[in-house]
Amino acid sequence: MRHFIDLLDWNGEQILKLLKEAARIKKGLLKGKHKPILEGRVLGMIFEKPSLRTRVSFQAGMAQLGGGAIFLNGAEVGLGNRESLPDIARTVCEYVDAIVLRTFLHENVVEFARWASKPVINGLSDYHHPCQALGDLLTIRETFGDLEGRTIVFVGDGNNVARSLAIAAGKVGARFILSAPEAYRFDQPFLEMYQTHVRGQLDEIADPAKAVANADVIYTDVWASMGQESEAKVRAEHFEAYQVNAELLKAAPEHARVMHCLPAHRGEEITDDVLDGPHSLAFPQAGNRMHAQKALLIWAMGG
Ligand code: CP
Ligand code: NVA
Repeated sequence: MRHFIDLLDWNGEQILKLLKEAARIKKGLLKGKHKPILEGRVLGMIFEKPSLRTRVSFQAGMAQLGGGAIFLNGAEVGLGNRESLPDIARTVCEYVDAIVLRTFLHENVVEFARWASKPVINGLSDYHHPCQALGDLLTIRETFGDLEGRTIVFVGDGNNVARSLAIAAGKVGARFILSAPEAYRFDQPFLEMYQTHVRGQLDEIADPAKAVANADVIYTDVWASMGQESEAKVRAEHFEAYQVNAELLKAAPEHARVMHCLPAHRGEEITDDVLDGPHSLAFPQAGNRMHAQKALLIWAMGG
């Protein structure tokens, strides 16, 4: 079954192949060529958390490929509440050809996939955000050419986005540096998982100015993720020195580009002038979510 849960079982070659396909699809779209390659296919989308990019990029992507999508609010479905997760997974697979699941507990995605008879795509969990990582690598590849040997510096929380990007980067030979306050660095289980499944170049440098000295990409994300709202105030204090702003950009090479998965908390992890400035890739990066996911949908549903 072609589940897409966390990228740990993908190798660099598979990722690069998918990115090439995504770039080809994007080019075709720009030329106005639409192939209804997923005609008659339906994507189920169960979301327990809010979303703009993931939801719209999957729905638009399916429409462009000739298929359809059904959006289901997690609360309405009553995930594990109105009905058990295995019952929902088995039922929904009777109707659709693949499912995107956005949920709090990563274990829910794993459990859902265990019961699903159709491919399950992780549309973000508290631990991984692999669809984001695919779109991000597509953006870096588009901007710099080769991914191998590039340095991606993530300034901020060692969260779902950071974990998935670290995994993806390591698989394609890019160096990943996390610059975070001590309490927000990568957790031990993740580091062990990384050693077993990735073994790339992964470093942690606490001082953000030192961390970005050789950066090709400076990446950031919110300091408090969805579900961590009650920690926002404390986190804002801990992360104060980790804002991506004009001063930090001065410590990086001139060619460095800034990325953000969005949504951004402007004035917290990133300033307006940087997010809207000439170094920012954030909006084409958001667009690339769709192109990468179209390649992923074709992979998952077999064309
Ligand atoms: N980057 C991202 O996943 O955005 P949404 O939460 O809006 O889907
Ligand atoms: N780390 C953020 C990413 C949102 C796309 C969150 O989980 O809320």
